[in-house]
Amino acid sequence: MAQAPLTSRKILLIVGGGIAAYKALELVRLIRKAGGEVQAVLTAAGAEFVTPLSLAALTGHPVRQTLFMPEDETSMGHIELSRWADLIVVAPATAGLIAKAANGLADDLASTTLIATDKKTLLAPAMNVRMWLHPAVQANVERLKGFDGFHGMAVVGPDDGEMACGEYGPGRMAEPAAIMDAIVRLLDGPDGRPLSGKRAVVTAGPTFEAIDPVRGLTNRSSGKQGYAIAAALADLGAEVTLVSGPTALAVPVGVTRIDVESAVEMQRATHAALPADVAVLSAAVADWRVDGVASGKIKKGPGGPPTLALIENPDILAGLAAPGPNRPTLVIGFAAETSDLETNARSKLSRKGCDWIVGNDVSDDVFGSDGNTVMLVTREGAETWPRQSKAEIARALAARIADHLTKA
Ligand code: C5P
Repeated sequence: MAQAPLTSRKILLIVGGGIAAYKALELVRLIRKAGGEVQAVLTAAGAEFVTPLSLAALTGHPVRQTLFMPEDETSMGHIELSRWADLIVVAPATAGLIAKAANGLADDLASTTLIATDKKTLLAPAMNVRMWLHPAVQANVERLKGFDGFHGMAVVGPDDGEMACGEYGPGRMAEPAAIMDAIVRLLDGPDGRPLSGKRAVVTAGPTFEAIDPVRGLTNRSSGKQGYAIAAALADLGAEVTLVSGPTALAVPVGVTRIDVESAVEMQRATHAALPADVAVLSAAVADWRVDGVASGKIKKGPGGPPTLALIENPDILAGLAAPGPNRPTLVIGFAAETSDLETNARSKLSRKGCDWIVGNDVSDDVFGSDGNTVMLVTREGAETWPRQSKAEIARALAARIADHLTKA
């Protein structure tokens, strides 16, 4: 069966104040039927037309109404909410909301979200015909469309027709089915899922190298960065295999996870996931494994502690980046360093033969944390990215990968 058009897509719906707000309820139903997830923000004026209860029941999520609600901010802050979404839809978009967005005025949750987001926004204007045709509103709409290169405000409607106030002309909100079409176009068009049809393999987490059946050598990698990258690539439409060492993390939506323990298993699973267009090897692979794993638990005895003989693990990254028929177009490695990040990342790039290295400064608060500071080193140059969340880094990296693969 073909996948529903909005499977695993996240929509933040802002419902403004206008009689057309009742159509927002039908829109929620259509998005969910198409496999999408919806969270709603209801403005104070919007709440005069539809109730938070109806929106909560239809979206299956609590409805956000104000900026300053401690419960809301602790579960998902308003900035995070604006980043959670793949697309923001404003329906109905009133003259007031349009004016605020066009002028960067952020004085409530809806207008703040519109300015805080890094995602595309779709406006479905709805207002009286005279208001719609007023040069101030038209200028604001043109201004918003002109922000396209920034985070892309698109507009659907309004339609011509008879209005609730009895006047006739453009100003009716587009029908929910037409708004749905615009949503699918925006998300599934070349800008929405640029990695559709592309395959990605991502390694993440630590490896665990057995000493005996109960003990082993491992490291402090949480796997969070690699999992976020797998999720971000899947969000852009890639078919993603995540080869993961032992972690406590859930499988991201739309990602196939292969669980492994040791470096040797990780290498085997990574090669089995080929061919791929891109490989992102973020796992913290142990450099050594124990030579001759004991078949039974090693006992403490009068002879003192055992001596562990170590042998070198295969270098998965170098193996994958080596020229060959199965080499992914883009092979990306990570370099966790505590000093001389750029120099070390650059030397790793040539030593391992990969295309990009994400240099990771692990000198402060990285392991298990949600934040990270990275530098992207390519053959052309190096860029330091500001400290940001692992999810943001993942999205930025996925966007760069999409850019590279679609232009290659
Ligand atoms: O050699 P080093 O561990 O510093 O290199 C880090 C990069 O190489 C990471 O991308 C890591 O996933 C990869 N790597 C690997 N196999 C190894 C060691 C590291 O794929 N045995």
